[in-house]
Amino acid sequence: MMPKKVSIFEVGARDGLQNEVAVTTLAKLQLIADLAASGLTRIEAGSFVSPKWVPQMADSADIFTQMPRVKGVTYSALTPNLKGFELALASGADEVAIFGAASESFSQKNINCSIDESIERFIPLMQLAKQHNIPVRGYVSCVLGCPYEGHIEVSEVARVSEILYKMGCYEISLGDTIGVGTPVNARRMVEAVAKVVPVEKLALHFHDTYGQALANIFACLDMGIATFDASVAGLGGCPYAKGASGNLATEDLVYMLHGIGIETGIDLNKLAIAGNHISQIIGRKSASKVANALG
Ligand code: HMG
Ligand code: MG
Repeated sequence: MMPKKVSIFEVGARDGLQNEVAVTTLAKLQLIADLAASGLTRIEAGSFVSPKWVPQMADSADIFTQMPRVKGVTYSALTPNLKGFELALASGADEVAIFGAASESFSQKNINCSIDESIERFIPLMQLAKQHNIPVRGYVSCVLGCPYEGHIEVSEVARVSEILYKMGCYEISLGDTIGVGTPVNARRMVEAVAKVVPVEKLALHFHDTYGQALANIFACLDMGIATFDASVAGLGGCPYAKGASGNLATEDLVYMLHGIGIETGIDLNKLAIAGNHISQIIGRKSASKVANALG
């Protein structure tokens, strides 16, 4: 059965802007405020990673300490290790996300360690998060393919997802990092993961490199998943996944969901204005077809 309502986890200010030309802190603050004003209640606002690896996110502490908070909105940060978690905590992040991968090569390129080593690093982070009552989300990358290894076995996606879930992540976001998946494969992957993690604890995080993200989400909508990640204006990509384009544009997702009668709580026009504004700042047209059609 299709859900009546879905939760959209907005990643534009992090996944989007981590892979665009650097924008000012002020422009990010404006974007985050615009996103909250459009009705989004889950906003990933930055990441506490090495500034040598991702310089675009180096001002995340300023973002978290300076942004005006809207009541009812959760502002989240990506944290790869204990150091990142401590910085996120000091900056007032409401929740954090750890990120692992279903591909060994991607794990090495993205976080400079093996999958098993990454899990080891997450243990003290999870303990500290628990002490501070900070919810932790878990990402698994390369769930439908890897930029270095190509095919990824669904059993490996399920294995890593189960580990992160059992470690205490409240939700597992399954990332098609390079947007190579197609609907039948996406369903098969979700079926495999849903055997080891309750399906309602799963989220889909699909990049739209090959234009398949919306079709893939639609294919999985009746499986019990009601959380989807998206990026306003289709911003971004991943700096350690060559050729990866942005996530599915939030505007396109909202348009489809509203069109099939599923509530999101989001004002599409306000969202499109937010996306057009940040696209202008970056100096390119919005990657959202819906935003372009709305004008
Ligand atoms: P490393 O070099 O192995 O780390 O990097 P290290 O522990 O050896 O430390 C080296 C230096 O980094 C030290 O500084 C540390 O203090 C510093 P130095 O002594 O040289 O001055 N450092 C940090 N600084 C700030 N914040 C931190 C931190 N940790 C160490 N948290 C590390 C390992 C994980 C840090 C690095 O590989 C890294 O930052 N990787 C992040 C890459 C990244 O952000 N990728 C994009 C996000 S993932 C993504 O987009 C996928 C996703 O969207 C889902 C999907 O689409 O699939 C989530
Ligand atoms: Mg991503």
